[in-house]
Amino acid sequence: MTGIAGAALTAMKTPGHTPNLTDSAPAAGLYDVINRRRDVRGEFSGAELPEPVLRRVLTAAHTAPSVGLSQPWDFILVRDAGTRRAFREHVLAERSVFASKLEGERAETFSKIKVEGIVESTLGVAVTYDPNRGAPEVLGRHAIADAGLYSVCLAIQNLWLAATAEGLGVGWVSFYREEFLRRLLGVPSEVRPVAWLCLGPVRELADTPDLERHGWRQRMPLEDVLHYEAYGRGRNR
Ligand SMILES: Cc1cc2nc3c(=O)[nH]c(=O)nc-3n(C[C@H](O)[C@H](O)[C@H](O)COP(=O)(O)O)c2cc1C
Repeated sequence: MTGIAGAALTAMKTPGHTPNLTDSAPAAGLYDVINRRRDVRGEFSGAELPEPVLRRVLTAAHTAPSVGLSQPWDFILVRDAGTRRAFREHVLAERSVFASKLEGERAETFSKIKVEGIVESTLGVAVTYDPNRGAPEVLGRHAIADAGLYSVCLAIQNLWLAATAEGLGVGWVSFYREEFLRRLLGVPSEVRPVAWLCLGPVRELADTPDLERHGWRQRMPLEDVLHYEAYGRGRNR
């Protein structure tokens, strides 16, 4: 790795490295990837994804932090066209279930939004959560069972950022019933499907989220979600 991203990595790896409080340049590569990351639906090219690149992206996911080092994730790589078509049919049916709850402007706006790129992407990566990994004494999970699930989401975020850095796109699909996906992919009953990720090369990454572009919802300013000392307290109270 060269340039700013390489410099940032070198800085991070240096023992005793003091963060530079006035200049964000050393971390610019990382922030650039964070800002360029998009949820992709319509921009997949379907082009081949070289095996070494896929391995790097999956290795990044597998490097994520996890409660008690349980690494409770598994990744099911799905290339089979029949499996992907079957999943897409199910997702479109669930899309209709959601659409049927909407009225007026919401229904009209949603009708224009694509919610998946299952068959257009190069492959699907189904990510699952195994609560028995490292059990029964998972260090740090005794009081918060969901900490296992949080760990899987961190692996997904690592995958998403690594894919973005590699010039790939990722689209998270959650319009499905867990039981359907479990049966489709032969996932054991105690293991929970967490996400279907559409993954592959893209024609481009959009500048703004699809949902903003279509007027579904706008990103909130950071200030709206900052609290000081206690929930609900602004800076001057
Ligand atoms: C848990 C989760 C589930 C999501 N499910 C879907 C989905 O089913 N279909 C979809 O098109 N986008 C899905 N998204 C993507 C979000 O719509 C997207 O992240 C959000 O609109 C912000 O856009 P951006 O990721 O491009 O910044 C999901 C994202 C997350 C984190």
